[in-house]
Amino acid sequence: MLGEYKVNTVPWIETIKGVFQFVENPIPVIAGALNEYGPTYYTRIVNGKKLVMTVDPDVIQHVLQKNNKNYKKSEIQTKSLGKYIGNGLLTTNGAYWLKQRRLIQPGFHKAKLDALVKTMHIELNDYISDLKTRIQSDNKVELSMEMMELTLRIVSKSLFSTGIDASQIKNLGKVFTELQEYIIREVRQPYMGWWRRLNGSARKTMKLAEEVKDILREIIAERRRNPKDSDDLLDMLLNSKYEDNGQNMSDTQILDEALILFTAGHETTANALTWAIYELSQNPEMCALLSEEYVKCTNEGVNMSTLMSCSYNSMVINETLRMYPPAWILDRVALKDDLVKNIKIREGDLIGMYVYGTHRHADIWDNPDRFEPNRFCKKEMANLHGYAFYPFGGGPRLCIGNHFAMLEMQMALGGLMTNFKWEVDTTHHVEPQPLITLRPKYGIKMSAQILA
Ligand code: HEM
Repeated sequence: MLGEYKVNTVPWIETIKGVFQFVENPIPVIAGALNEYGPTYYTRIVNGKKLVMTVDPDVIQHVLQKNNKNYKKSEIQTKSLGKYIGNGLLTTNGAYWLKQRRLIQPGFHKAKLDALVKTMHIELNDYISDLKTRIQSDNKVELSMEMMELTLRIVSKSLFSTGIDASQIKNLGKVFTELQEYIIREVRQPYMGWWRRLNGSARKTMKLAEEVKDILREIIAERRRNPKDSDDLLDMLLNSKYEDNGQNMSDTQILDEALILFTAGHETTANALTWAIYELSQNPEMCALLSEEYVKCTNEGVNMSTLMSCSYNSMVINETLRMYPPAWILDRVALKDDLVKNIKIREGDLIGMYVYGTHRHADIWDNPDRFEPNRFCKKEMANLHGYAFYPFGGGPRLCIGNHFAMLEMQMALGGLMTNFKWEVDTTHHVEPQPLITLRPKYGIKMSAQILA
């Protein structure tokens, strides 16, 4: 798609100059290098290996799909993230990952999702009526905190049906933000580990992660004490059996997988919903189209098939995921030497697949910085490279929650746009911040007015 091109190496001096800015905000640093050195470039990293940064859909498809067996997730995910959220689907490689994927995948099949949609809908309606009560006295809201609360409520009901105590939800939103900020510092400034140990932040962060685990541990223990048929994801985790030996997962495995679903399942969707409402609030005609369609399509009730018929709504979400991909970069490490196009990859090299950059590449998209949902209509999509748009990754490690997330976001967006008029506070500075997910650095200040 981007054709053949020369692959350049960023000079040492440039790499060193960019280090501090990279820690602060990697987006302009990577954008500058792509501009200067082309769609795939090499950066030397300290251990003699290279970082191969790419936005090229052919290279990305090769790594994630065609030759995926030659690549594993890096220690950023398996160790740095795994240390806090446990060893499970998102944070393991190889045979163990495959075993877990086979075990957990059925929990996300169509019939299961249908049941989860009902749960999500009840929770969304509860949230909407709570928000209506709250904004009667003050209609100013901070959108990203609101969306975090909503998606935490939805994912905890989908996982544990009983949900998590309302007072704990708000606290959890803050804990996840702190965890993310710390983990990203660990990844971008590995050489400052001594300082983090000295100033106590390493210990404090581990304690925060333990607090979240304690909450989940108690929910799991309670379910074991009082088993009930719940049709939730915890039930699926507790009851699924390995094909080879017919055994269930241990308590530690269940805790790890539950925490991973909990973490991966709320932050990503919260950010996408925040950016979608932010864009829609500035495009009233898109708002009107989405709301009209939602009312019409869900006239007979909100379920999987009525939600899937809201095609404009899904175009809006896709366009949001294009411009603001929550997982803005993906990584892999090469197990053996490899060649894709004319690009040499050596064993141990780190591949950075810069999702944000592919999604905004001017050779792939017309007016890439313009929010334009119509570009996702079927006709336009037919000509698009399969890896020009990959917000959920690809190949065997494609996001396990992609359908769950799409249904959740379609329903939430429909409900939130038909019930409220959102207006952005234009005096407030909005800036994407690439932590583990892409979130608004200073939040997004809005006012919400009740419509229905
Ligand atoms: C807008 C929402 C979401 C986005 C953009 C997103 C994105 C992604 C991406 C890009 C990956 C692949 C990472 C890689 O290959 O390195 C991934 C994996 C994963 N996601 Fe999502 N995700 C979303 C929602 C969810 C939800 C709702 C859940 C669960 C309820 C979930 C659970 C997972 C898990 C467990 C994995 C690891 C799968 C594996 O490696 O087998 N995600 N996600």
